[in-house]
Amino acid sequence: MTNVRFTAAPGRALRGRLRVPGDKSISHRAIMLGALAEGITEISGFLEGEDCLATLRAFRAMGVHIRGPEDGRVVIQGVGLHGLRAPAEFLDVGNSGTSMRLLAGLLAGQPFASVLAGDASLTRRPMRRVTEPLARMGACIEASPAGTAPLRIRGKPLRGIDYSMPVASAQVKSCLLLAGLYAQGRTCITEPAPTRDHTERMLAGFGYPVIRQGARSCVDGGGRLRACAIDVPADLSSAAFFLVGASIAADAELLLEHVGINPTRTGIIEILARMGASIELLNRRQAGGEPIADIRVRSAPLRGIAIPPELVPLAIDEFPAVFIAAACAEGETVLTGAEELRVKESDRIQVMADGLQALGIDARPTPAGMLIRGGHLTGGEIDSHGDHRVAMAFAMASLRASGVIRIHDCANVSTSFPTFVALAQDLGLAIRQE
Ligand code: S3P
Repeated sequence: MTNVRFTAAPGRALRGRLRVPGDKSISHRAIMLGALAEGITEISGFLEGEDCLATLRAFRAMGVHIRGPEDGRVVIQGVGLHGLRAPAEFLDVGNSGTSMRLLAGLLAGQPFASVLAGDASLTRRPMRRVTEPLARMGACIEASPAGTAPLRIRGKPLRGIDYSMPVASAQVKSCLLLAGLYAQGRTCITEPAPTRDHTERMLAGFGYPVIRQGARSCVDGGGRLRACAIDVPADLSSAAFFLVGASIAADAELLLEHVGINPTRTGIIEILARMGASIELLNRRQAGGEPIADIRVRSAPLRGIAIPPELVPLAIDEFPAVFIAAACAEGETVLTGAEELRVKESDRIQVMADGLQALGIDARPTPAGMLIRGGHLTGGEIDSHGDHRVAMAFAMASLRASGVIRIHDCANVSTSFPTFVALAQDLGLAIRQE
């Protein structure tokens, strides 16, 4: 499992059109809300990656009948908010932080006990950010003494709370909104900075009222969800690797089709545009309550920038790719206010700095960010530490490297982008998986 390796040879052209797989955040939520709705929910464009499959399996284990996925199609026979059954075993969500944190909220108010477990990476990640506010709602959840998984949950009646999140986290917000569906009274969450709002949008799409006022979102317990059809857009977080790849490669042009451009996710486009990238949003439209567009990107000379801290939550998953862009830019790029990157699937500040240094780049990690001086990328050996986005980011670096880049521990690319290598090869990247 851990010994999958990518070998990427120095750059070739990157040209063509592609549709990257479905949005991970939206795919998780479609399974969750579809399972809890009344009626049949049909999903198209579902991401058949390990993370979303973990969510799907968790609901099957709780008695929900789900057909698929087949070519991105999933059909869910919703059981209603009170129709889940106790799972016979613990729920293993693998590498998926979204599954664990959102399910923690949803399971806290069920009339049964459950256990959420994950892999070594997920078991290191902080869970107090959800267990503490859930406890205030009356939940009974036991984590390890370090505040990590496994989470042992005894379902309890919950009460609504008014909670200001100390960290800008869509996972925490969504966890509490899902718990709020089961709580007595109103649950209100205030975020310190805007984070992805797919839960709020999708709840509304399922006919569940969400009261939104600025940074505050509230739900009243005791409502119901009505099944609907969901067209999942392509994931901007997966498209990001190709936005960076085509920007740094010589003579590149890509058209990325049907990509979600929810304004709480488009920090990557804003950051790359400020660096001088050539990115156009074409054919803007709506699908299932989410804005989408086709994105054209062409090679462009990039320059280093100071990344505005307010863009950090709007590009939270894209920094591995941004760091590669910075390494290829002229001048210095400075990231601050991004300490959350240290508690993602890996410590993305340290792991990316180590990898960039291995390729000859002056990259200096700081507690909450990084300083990168653009330069010449050599070949080298990279340890991705099992982090899917680190692995894909360094694969793109090969487009500008002077030698072969070998990336180790890449199996988890299948969590979010199982077709990455094949798609990258089709577009011209000289990459092999072994
Ligand atoms: C996600 C939220 C983000 C993101 C993760 C998916 C979600 O995490 O990093 O990949 O689907 O809600 P945080 O909310 O913890 O920043």
